Amino acid sequence: MAASSIKINRDSDRPLYLQVADELRGQIETGALPAETRLPASRTLAKKLGVNRITIVNAYSELEAEGLVLTKVGSGTYVAPAKPALAADDRPPELSRWRGPLALRRQWNAGQMMQEMMRLARHPGVISFAGGAPASDFLPVNEFRRAINDVLRRDGAEALQYEEAAGYYPLREKIADMLARRNINVRAEDILITAGCQQAADIALRVLTRGSESVLVVEDPCYLGLLNLITARQITPIGVPMDEYGLLTDRLEQVILRHRPRLIYVTPSFHNPTGLTMPLDRRQSLLEIATRYGVPILEDSSYVGLRYEGKTLPSLKSMDHEDIVFYAGGFSKTLVPGIRIGYLIAPAILQERMIATKQTADILTSPLNQRALYTYLCTEDFDAHLALVQREYKLRRDVMVAAAERYFPDSARWRVPEGGIYLWVEMDPGGPTATELYLTAINYNVAFSIGSVFSASGSFAHAMRLNFATPPPDDIEEGIRRLGKAWHERLAQHSVSGSQLRRQRSAIEFL
Ligand SMILES: Cc1ncc(COP(=O)(O)O)c(C=O)c1O
Repeated sequence: MAASSIKINRDSDRPLYLQVADELRGQIETGALPAETRLPASRTLAKKLGVNRITIVNAYSELEAEGLVLTKVGSGTYVAPAKPALAADDRPPELSRWRGPLALRRQWNAGQMMQEMMRLARHPGVISFAGGAPASDFLPVNEFRRAINDVLRRDGAEALQYEEAAGYYPLREKIADMLARRNINVRAEDILITAGCQQAADIALRVLTRGSESVLVVEDPCYLGLLNLITARQITPIGVPMDEYGLLTDRLEQVILRHRPRLIYVTPSFHNPTGLTMPLDRRQSLLEIATRYGVPILEDSSYVGLRYEGKTLPSLKSMDHEDIVFYAGGFSKTLVPGIRIGYLIAPAILQERMIATKQTADILTSPLNQRALYTYLCTEDFDAHLALVQREYKLRRDVMVAAAERYFPDSARWRVPEGGIYLWVEMDPGGPTATELYLTAINYNVAFSIGSVFSASGSFAHAMRLNFATPPPDDIEEGIRRLGKAWHERLAQHSVSGSQLRRQRSAIEFL
């Protein structure tokens, strides 16, 4: 086949992958591409046509769904014989249709899927709502340049030496002062500095759990980084469903009685991925149940500083009189993710074990970064920075919600979060899945996170997470417009060839 004979029109509204599929279909139907002809590798054809590889993969998938081509394992994609043979391997026939980068092979875990999605989302021209990053626009570059220079001038070699494993004491004091403003009364000695909130969670898990007989309760859906830790540490997760007020505490009691969990992990404020915030009575009920059964809670406060409206709520830690709450926090979402500084406050009797566990992980967190953060907090106006990002993220959230109202199908559902950086959008369960939508959306150069990667139980196939903080407002408007277009297109395909798409969907979900 001469790739040069494939014509694509970049000004057309028809997605590129469908244009490529149309061209190939035409050539197959006219016999220009006879049966058994091997199609070029997706990478090669993509290069020749100057398009994303996923465009070609999707075009081939489209033709395969129509029975016009078939994929032979390890060999390539071929024009189907007159009477199409189905799978060339021992899997159910439908499964061979999904062989592209997003073909959700059984052995793929959510982390790998997310990495693949992030890779596609980083492609030039793609507007991405997929990540978990704060906006680069507001990262305090000059302030940190000044802080690092000050540290090196002031502390010299000390700033580049090993440090106490628990962390730079003045920074721990500073964090204790900040926490006092949240009614969390701890001493500097109670604070362990970690490499981000992620390491704080990892340390708590390592100290409290031992392999697969240890059960950990998580919200369903849950922060993917925590699910990845669970997989890495081979712990058994039990996902407790959420309603609009967060984790369903009446289900929690049954779970505790049946599974005897070692820990309950929750993000009560501006939860990742749903953006939800647990109201006071739900917090009280969670704490009461955990205290009654003596199950520790790990409270993740990553997004606490990012409230745009509504009343500030007390943390579980501030209401904990039995010392069963571990409190993990950091500066990634509110200030800078790149310095990798977080902290963990553990119940008093476990603090020494936490420090020893931290030492086995990375000895200590970068002394230079700790001192730079300390200097930033002493010399710059963190409150003013917070006020700035709160104002800007609120604006971006409002732009996204307004655009979603304009461009998304009527069946789309969401709750406007009072803070944080995510909008969780639920799709019609009878329509295309988020994965199917993703495959179309990426051709429109827009990306998001599919809901099922955040689930310990593999649920939420019809949900997506959109980060509204990272892209600037104009990109949000344009990205949501593109996503709406992709969504309407998928819905139209779905209703035209419902049974065919249903087969594809069940293939994806099976994998
Ligand atoms: C709920 C939650 N906890 C922890 C983290 C990791 O944060 P850090 O960069 O401080 O390690 C994230 C990052 O996305 C998160 O969403």
